[in-house]
Amino acid sequence: MSSEVKESITIHKGLDSIRVNESSICLIDGERSRLYYRGYSIADLTDNASYEEVAYLLIIGQLPTQLQLDELKNTLFSEYTLSPITMTLLKSYPSTSHPMDVLRTTISSLALEDGGLTQDKSVNLQRAIRILAKAPVIIAAFERIRQGKEPLTPKKELGHAANFLYMIHGEIPSNYDSRIMDIALSLHAEHEMNASTFSGIVTASTLSDMYSIITAGIATLRGSLHGGANEEALKMIMEIGTPENAVTFVEERLKQKKRIMGFGHRIYKTYDPRYTILKAIAEKLGGVKGKASLYDTAVRVEREALGRLSDSKIFPNVDFYSGLVFHMLGLRTDLFTPIFASSRIAGWAAHVLEYLEDNRLIRPKAVYTGKVDLQYTPIEQRT
Ligand code: ACO
Repeated sequence: MSSEVKESITIHKGLDSIRVNESSICLIDGERSRLYYRGYSIADLTDNASYEEVAYLLIIGQLPTQLQLDELKNTLFSEYTLSPITMTLLKSYPSTSHPMDVLRTTISSLALEDGGLTQDKSVNLQRAIRILAKAPVIIAAFERIRQGKEPLTPKKELGHAANFLYMIHGEIPSNYDSRIMDIALSLHAEHEMNASTFSGIVTASTLSDMYSIITAGIATLRGSLHGGANEEALKMIMEIGTPENAVTFVEERLKQKKRIMGFGHRIYKTYDPRYTILKAIAEKLGGVKGKASLYDTAVRVEREALGRLSDSKIFPNVDFYSGLVFHMLGLRTDLFTPIFASSRIAGWAAHVLEYLEDNRLIRPKAVYTGKVDLQYTPIEQRT
């Protein structure tokens, strides 16, 4: 005998109308193109602060004094070192591995040497800073290993962003490139209750450990509807090749019901303020790096896509120009999402530490549409 069970209840597919907690970390005003970290506008922060200051602001809750910033930088520097186990792992991966898979696996593996569940706040904070420090070193080390080169160790005199570029390219980056990388990291550091942050919070709510939490965040950021879109957006712009090809490409893509990568957002119904900052950087950087034609192609794609999508409130998001900026800094396309992840660790940690102050297990429900009371059939009687 079977019967169907139906509940008359609203299903919030995509959870877009659900608020899971109160938070003082990030405000997005998606109608007015505004984004604040702990009350500071993103434009103010990217004009004035370093990524280290932004990370401190997010995780600790206020801008650091000089002494606090120096302490954070010292801690980061001491945590940049990778253990022999981590180095062995990095050298054992196939060189064809996607760096996002490498980052996810390696961050998870850090727990092997520092494992164990704990609800000690200071240990959770220490682990968050440890992961924040090690993530760019892991990405850069793998980038060099897969090219048959030796990984480099960071330099004390360089900041977080400059060290990353140094460890990738093997030469001290210009102040200009370092500052752009710094801004790009700050722009990606936090974004309220997005999919990867929620994923981290779900993991944290079970009283799991910081390595599992950040691994869950990275896993969720990986997809092309979330962090993976930066890579896809640049590939799309490269494939289009010249501004003249933009009209046909956009027309065809939309006709085939495919999405324009780097466009659309669950919260922004106008321009993403991070897009505005990155577009201005891409324009200037394009000139400096001799890549103005790539920028021109992107602008043309943007114009064509906007003409067709803006009536539906679909505008360019952070990912439309971020890939272009990373590309112009000489970074390979498959590094874009890992870079995004390494920066977002600050936001994930901030949210998780805040949520754990008043934790409640996250356990939603589904509406069951299957059958009940079916009779088990022995395998030989099944058709
Ligand atoms: N190009 C074309 N059409 C789009 C796009 C796009 N980029 N984005 C949304 N749409 C259309 C959908 O096809 C859908 O149309 P339909 O109602 O006719 O079927 C409608 O807009 C609503 O789409 P949803 O997916 O329901 O909207 P949602 O709010 O879930 O979308 C998302 C948000 C996933 C980001 C979407 O805009 C998208 O896929 N964009 C492309 C990928 C991307 O850039 N992701 C990065 C987002 S920013 C970040 O995560 C860092």
